[in-house]
Amino acid sequence: MKLALVGYGRVGRAFARLLESKRAAFPFRITGIHTARHGTALSEKGLPLEPDFGPPARSVEEFLERSKADLMVEVTPLNPLTGEPAISQIRAAFARGMHVVTANKGPIAHAWPALRREAEAAGVQFRFEATVMDGTPVFNLVRYTLPGVRVLGFTGVLNSTTTVVIEAMAGGCTLEEGIERARRLGITETDARYDVDGWDAAAKTAALANVLMDAGVTPLQVPARGIGRLTPARVAELARKGKTVRLVSRAKLTPRGVSLRVRAEVLPVTDPLAGTRGTSNLLLLRTDLMGTIGVMSLAPGVEQTAYGLFSDVVSIAREV
Ligand SMILES: NC(=O)c1ccc[n+]([C@@H]2O[C@H](COP(=O)([O-])OP(=O)(O)OC[C@H]3O[C@@H](n4cnc5c(N)ncnc54)[C@H](OP(=O)(O)O)[C@@H]3O)[C@@H](O)[C@H]2O)c1
Repeated sequence: MKLALVGYGRVGRAFARLLESKRAAFPFRITGIHTARHGTALSEKGLPLEPDFGPPARSVEEFLERSKADLMVEVTPLNPLTGEPAISQIRAAFARGMHVVTANKGPIAHAWPALRREAEAAGVQFRFEATVMDGTPVFNLVRYTLPGVRVLGFTGVLNSTTTVVIEAMAGGCTLEEGIERARRLGITETDARYDVDGWDAAAKTAALANVLMDAGVTPLQVPARGIGRLTPARVAELARKGKTVRLVSRAKLTPRGVSLRVRAEVLPVTDPLAGTRGTSNLLLLRTDLMGTIGVMSLAPGVEQTAYGLFSDVVSIAREV
């Protein structure tokens, strides 16, 4: 199967390295890479990890045509306000009969029902496991292992940058120093304000609610309050009382629809949500038939996001 990558930053490169390490068992070929500033690289034989980029293709449509790929891997930055240009790039791939795998939650948070219908109409697959909790199965957990189950709500710590910042503050660092620590781990959004202000968590919350609960919302409908006003002094004061802060996503099915929120919550350190350390994430799903079940990722990094993409690509290759 031939793959075209749109975006070749931390996640795109980690994905290419993973493919290289698994080439013997999974002979996928990257025939095109398209970026914003580095340009475009194309080779029918397959590109090396550090390709020679030429001038950028004039449009994503032109790039996809020239890549002759079967599947587009979309790994451009999150735009939590509109989901663009990723949504249009995904549509361009569908229009060419290409399957799509993305790590970008923007399109799922803004346009999931429409994109699902359009993929079906085009007879192609559309997967996005890496958008929430990196490669940890969340969407596939429900899709493949919980038939007939209705998700009634969820609670999660889904943004790792804020956890890393809060831990840095507990050690006396400023907000900016905490963000820098998260950036060195490769886990911040391209624009880290989207993490701190709660937009990334709001986009993940909307994506989960749309796919698992048919909520039909966008991140703009998720009331979000991030950690922008938190200070090291406040974190120290809470620590003396046996408490800490986490950016918590909550969803609940109500008679009026799905109620959603993202908020920096004060929690006892004994709370399971407070047990998320570093880049770790926790998601608890409340269901009708299985009670409450949870998935946790312990200290994931960009390699696990790459695995989320890889698992989707492998699933598609097996199913088509
Ligand atoms: N990093 C993580 O841990 C993580 C985890 C889960 C999900 N994600 C998601 O994965 C996606 C990528 O994240 P990242 O960390 O790899 O970002 P990144 O390091 O900032 O890389 C973004 C890439 O996208 C390219 N790009 C930007 N705008 C583009 C456009 N309009 N058309 C084509 N290419 C474009 C950039 O080109 P240039 O190289 O030329 O600038 C760059 O190669 C994001 O949506 C993010 O939310 C990331």
